[in-house]
Parts: sequence; C-alpha cells; structure tokens
Amino acid sequence: MCGIIGYIGNKNVLPILIQGLKKLEYRGYDSVGIAILDKNNGIQIEKCRGRIKNLEELIKNTDIEGTIGLGHTRWATHGSPNDINAHPHFSKSGEIAIVHNGIIENYLAIKDILLSYGYQFISDTDTEVLPHLIQHNYQGDLTEAVKKSLKMAKGSYAIGVISSKEPNKIVAAKSGSPLVIGIGEKEMYLASDIPALLNYTKKVIFLGENEIATIDKNDVHIINLEGEEIKKKIIYIDWDAEMAEKGGYKHYMLKEIYQQPLVLRENLEKYINLGKVNLSYLQLAQKEVISLEKIHIIACGTASYAALVGKYIIESIAGIPVEVDYASEFRYKTKLLNKKTLAIVISQSGETADTIAAMHSCQGKVWTTLAIVNVRGSTISREADHVMYINAGPEIGVASTKAFIGQLISLYLLAIFLGKTKNKLSEQDEKEIIIEISRIPQKIETILYQNDKIESIANQFSKYQHFLYLARDVNFPIALEGALKLKEISYIHAEAYPAGEMKHGPIALLDDNFPVVAIALRDKVYDKMINNIKEVTTREAKVIVLATEGDEQIAKIGDKVFYIPEISIPILYPLLSVVPLQLFAYHIANILGRDVDKPRNLAKSVTVE
Ligand code: F6R
Repeated sequence: MCGIIGYIGNKNVLPILIQGLKKLEYRGYDSVGIAILDKNNGIQIEKCRGRIKNLEELIKNTDIEGTIGLGHTRWATHGSPNDINAHPHFSKSGEIAIVHNGIIENYLAIKDILLSYGYQFISDTDTEVLPHLIQHNYQGDLTEAVKKSLKMAKGSYAIGVISSKEPNKIVAAKSGSPLVIGIGEKEMYLASDIPALLNYTKKVIFLGENEIATIDKNDVHIINLEGEEIKKKIIYIDWDAEMAEKGGYKHYMLKEIYQQPLVLRENLEKYINLGKVNLSYLQLAQKEVISLEKIHIIACGTASYAALVGKYIIESIAGIPVEVDYASEFRYKTKLLNKKTLAIVISQSGETADTIAAMHSCQGKVWTTLAIVNVRGSTISREADHVMYINAGPEIGVASTKAFIGQLISLYLLAIFLGKTKNKLSEQDEKEIIIEISRIPQKIETILYQNDKIESIANQFSKYQHFLYLARDVNFPIALEGALKLKEISYIHAEAYPAGEMKHGPIALLDDNFPVVAIALRDKVYDKMINNIKEVTTREAKVIVLATEGDEQIAKIGDKVFYIPEISIPILYPLLSVVPLQLFAYHIANILGRDVDKPRNLAKSVTVE
C-alpha cells in the first residue's frame, strides 16, 4: 500500500530512487513521484499518474541532480490517481516535501484549521495536510516540527520529509505503516520494505511505532513522540538481492510458484530434527498448551485460506477446536476469549493493518498470540508474543503463492507439535506424517514438470467469463484459494463452494458457458465429489478435475483431468492441490495479457483498513 524510498549520501540520488521505486512498485502503482534536493538546496519535484516508466519518460530530458531525495509509488485511497494527487506533496513555499504511506484519518479537521490560517490545498489527498502542518509548526528544527505535527495526526503513516531549510537530513516517522532504514557507508537509505535495500545494504533498523528518525549520511537519531531518545538494534538481513529478482522467469509469480519445493525444504530442515517436529524455539509453555481449549486463527485473503486449512488440520491432528476469522471482521465482533485460548495470526507481509489490529485486540485477553509470518522485522513479527517464520524469502508477485505454501507447512508442523504435546498424536503417527511430508517437495516438482499440460488446459478455457471451484473437506479452502488466484490476476469472475453446497443455490448458474474446477482426490470425500461432478456435467457445464494419479474412472466423467501424485495421508493434499490451481490462474492471466505481477487495483501489503 504505497512504497517509499529515500536516500542521503554522496551518490547521485536519481537512479537510486528509480531503482528503489521499481522494487517497491508491487506495493502500489497508481502514480509515482520523486523529490530531490538539488545543488542549490531547492527541492525539485516530478510526479505523474501511472507507473515508473511514465515518470522516466517525464524526466528523461531534465537534469535533476542531487544526493538527497525521496520517492513514492502510490496506491490511491483519498483522491483519484492523477498527477496532482501523486506524491511527493509539498508546502506552499515549496520548502518542505513529503512522501506518505497510510491514511491521516482526521485530515479534514486539520485541513479546516490550516484553511483558516490561509493555507491553500491543491490535491484531494489526506496527505497534503502534512507538509502544510509541518511548515506551520516549523521554527528552525525540522524534526521538532514533524513531531509536533504528528501529535495532531490520527491514523496511520510512514513518512519521509525533506526541507530546503535543512538540506542535510531526511526526517522519517512511522505509525502503523512499515519503514526500514538501511545503513550504508557514509550513506543511508529509507524504504517501505527490505527488497528495495538489498542491492545496497543488509544492515537495517526497523522504525518502531510512533518513532521519528532524523537521518543524515553518517548517523540516525531516533526519538519517540515525547522526544525521548530511543536506542535501536541494527539487524542483519540474510536475504540476498538475487532472491528478489525474476531469475529468468517471465513473472515473479511464476518464479515464486517454482520456488515452492524449496520453501518446503527450508522449513522441514529448520523445524524437523531426527524425524520429529521441533518447535522448541517458540517457547510455548507445555503446561499452557496442555490446557489449551480453543484456537482462533485470524488473517486476510490468501492467508485466511491457509488459516481455514489450519482449522481442518489442527482439529484433526491435535483435537483442539479452531475458529477462523477474517481480520477485518474479527476486529469489530464480540470476542469470547479467555486465557485458555491461543490466537494465531497469519500474514506474509506482517504489515496488514486489519491483522495487526486484530492481533492487538486479542493481546491480554488470550493465553498468548502466535504469528505465522514471512517478513522478518515486520510489525506483526515484532509485536506478537511468539513468531513462527515461514522462510519463503521475498515474495514480490502481488498474488501470494509461495507464502501460502509456507503458511500451510507451518500449520501442519504446528498441528503436529500441538497434537504431540496434548497427547492426541502418537509418536508413530508423527513419524508417518513426517515421512509423508518430506516427500511432498519432490511431488510438487512432478506437478511443475507438467506445467505445459496446465498451460494447454488454460488455453482451452481462457475465453470463459466465469468459473465455479468445488471441493470438500480440507481441499475446500484450496478451492477458495484457486478462485481467488484466478479472479485477482485474470479479472475473470470465479467463486468457490463446498461441493455439497452447490445444490443449495449455485447450481442455478451452471450451463455450457460456466465451467467448473473440481478437486476430487482419493480421500474420504472422493465418492461424494464424484456425485457432485456428475451433477455438474448433467447441466452441460465443462469440468476440469484435479484427480489422483492412477484414477482412471475420473477421466470418463471430467472434460479435462489433471493428475497429481498420490499421498498416503490425505490430509496433506492441500500442499499439492494448490499448485496446479496457481499455475492454471497464472497461465490464463498470461494468455489474456494481464499484468500478472501487478494486477489492477491491488497492492502487495494492505497497510490501511
Ligand atoms: C492474494 C493476496 C492477498 C493477501 C492478503 C493478506 O493473492 O496476496 O489476499 O494474502 O492481503 O496479506 P498478508 O499475508 O501480507 O497479511
């Protein structure tokens, strides 16, 4: 949800800003802009609607030079995505420029006050109140003016501010939206996310809530809104720049789908020791786990479908009742929590505003909070009581794929850990599950080898406007995820139902223009799925079936069959069944010429409510 980049040092800032913006473009791509402090200590601003290539076109004949600057790529909330609403925004004298990620919720009240002082507004954004307010509060100290202004602002923000009055610094602040400071040699960086920094440095400081950093090229000084000094640890990031490149794939999404066996192997290596799950690093007290009565899993989007798989597997493996909620709903609902409840939040980015708020609303009311997160140092990873990392590396494609697999494997391992601790799972059962799980990466590879077959099915189905995804039991969340993948990157309408629910309404939609994707694997609901598929074909709808290798009879019912390897423990099927659905969505979107990695209207991390 908007990307911020900043640099202060001795190098020409323009290419650094452009490269950083390219790395952050997945966070929002409605408009883009830069502000550079030039040689004469004036601020030059260039901004426009659209993507970074539009900005590059705009500035190609200008000679902006400087060694301090800010850049922004926008996901519009307040004000349509046009040139004027693009960031950076600036004060009326042009002395102060600001980039902002988040929403200033009380901007109308602040605007009224500023209007009464004679300030004029040119954009429709909430952000524009900030440069005027900072200018209004400026009395020779930019950090102080920012602090005073932020005390008035309500809502969420990550900001970078420069001023021509103090041309040797960037002031940055955060509340609710992420901001990372990269430490270089006589140079400093500012970014919304780590991948934008990896080409320059791996030493970072994560700015905390309500903290303000004054950054010069040699040093960072951090205070809170009360003006108290805060000492921060420098953290070393072990991702390398290559991990955040496309590596020969046409799209990040495709690369990330292909990285899934690797993600599983990483997690198995980290969390399995001598054939047993070892989550001792989580330091979950055994006594509390034994008396655990309920688990709430809270997440958004794809992560919420991982949560739903988590419900099936934790209930089945560990015998603990699980409730799953969308974070945006959980925030405002009546919560029946107690100290025998564990709250699990799942988030790739660790920055999703609703998930953060949902987690906060549990803290103190439940036994403990456990976050399943990808991005180290993210808000959720810092603020949860316990953190389980999914070790997926940077996920750049806006549509989540490898993070989903990472979330699933974490939930399987957690379910085994809980089952063992609560004495619901025997050593023998644990051993058998682990053996079968360790075969999954190779089984995913056999699916990936058949990418051409999936592409050919996608070719035959790319002209349809609607799809219905059907599955039962633990694969039902995979149907939801398959439908989400298709709609978000191809813009084709797709919905998912538990197959048994179809006859209670959705069946009315079906005809020869409304194909169905059905997951009918050899598990306890196989026969029921066969009946449902027959109900579909009777209505002349075409069916693509995901079936288990060796299932000959299904080829007689489905129009297209895609086989996946057999698993002897069927509850593990989601780790396989999701992969062909990701590829199917990918190919349809690619065939239709969609912007696969940056689908319209979306952003990678949703840091506003
Ligand atoms: C869909 C997708 C989103 C995210 C959701 C939560 O492909 O990526 O639905 O899963 O926005 O994001 P995180 O996991 O970062 O909290």
